[in-house]
Amino acid sequence: MKNKITIIGAGNVGATAAHWALVRKLGNVVLLDVMEGIPQGKALDLWESGPLHGFAGMVRGSNDYADTAGSDVVIITAGLARKPGMSRDDLLSKNVAIVKSCAEEAVRHSPDCFMIVVTNPIDAMVHTAFKAGGLARHRIVGMAGVLDSARYRTFLAEAIGVAPQDVYAPVMGIHGDNMLPLVRLANVAGVPVTDLLPAAEIEEIVKRTQMGGIEIVNHLKTGSAFYTPGLAAVEMAEAVLNDTRRVLPCAAYLEGEFGISGCFLGVPVVLGAGGVERILEFALTDAERAALELSVQAVSKQTAATGL
Ligand code: LAC
Repeated sequence: MKNKITIIGAGNVGATAAHWALVRKLGNVVLLDVMEGIPQGKALDLWESGPLHGFAGMVRGSNDYADTAGSDVVIITAGLARKPGMSRDDLLSKNVAIVKSCAEEAVRHSPDCFMIVVTNPIDAMVHTAFKAGGLARHRIVGMAGVLDSARYRTFLAEAIGVAPQDVYAPVMGIHGDNMLPLVRLANVAGVPVTDLLPAAEIEEIVKRTQMGGIEIVNHLKTGSAFYTPGLAAVEMAEAVLNDTRRVLPCAAYLEGEFGISGCFLGVPVVLGAGGVERILEFALTDAERAALELSVQAVSKQTAATGL
């Protein structure tokens, strides 16, 4: 039987995720939205691209959670997107209500799903979905690190003059200005980036990565990034559905890992059929620990503001 993937929110991120889930042949897709007609129209358009892409997956647009029943993976993208001048935090209260109801409904119809939360502010929204949906902690993560790391890798690759796929550059912590693009662990095919670029240039790239979301918001003016966020969510879904055990940076619920408990935070996660199969812990330097502590403080503030 084919896998079933539900994507909640048929905006730019949701539709892009649906597109990639089909192109990567992950299974059948349900695209759900409260707006009547939008998910139906986008799903039909996507379905009709099957002969050209060479996929045979079915994609259906719906306004009814009954159509999502029995999903293996649920990706929540519903919510308002950032506009210029708006921080991810400004979105918080509006999106808590939306994500809460999405998670409750989705889990009611797919109690065994693996859930990926993309709605911003991601770290608080995955907490909201965790509390509202009641999934076990290994069945739910936030999408943040895969996107942030892709940006970090792209900028490093351009500066060094190598293929982006040969750059490995992890990001930890919050999906926000205090995120922690790790310099010490960034490398090109194993060669430390600190041997390839001057420190000041790396520092500029770290800053650009931290501000990667707003850089795009400032260009678009009416919304935020969607090509890479949509694909990043599918990259994570693929690891779970195909049980690949990829190591991807995800916002996972921590219970003592890295000395942190009781919040979602970006950490390296082994993703497989069991969901979060393992969090790869390692020793942080004092400076890294101090930087991660800023993320913990920012996430704790956001999480408290959800009231959940
Ligand atoms: C970004 C927004 C989606 O980082 O948070 O592009």
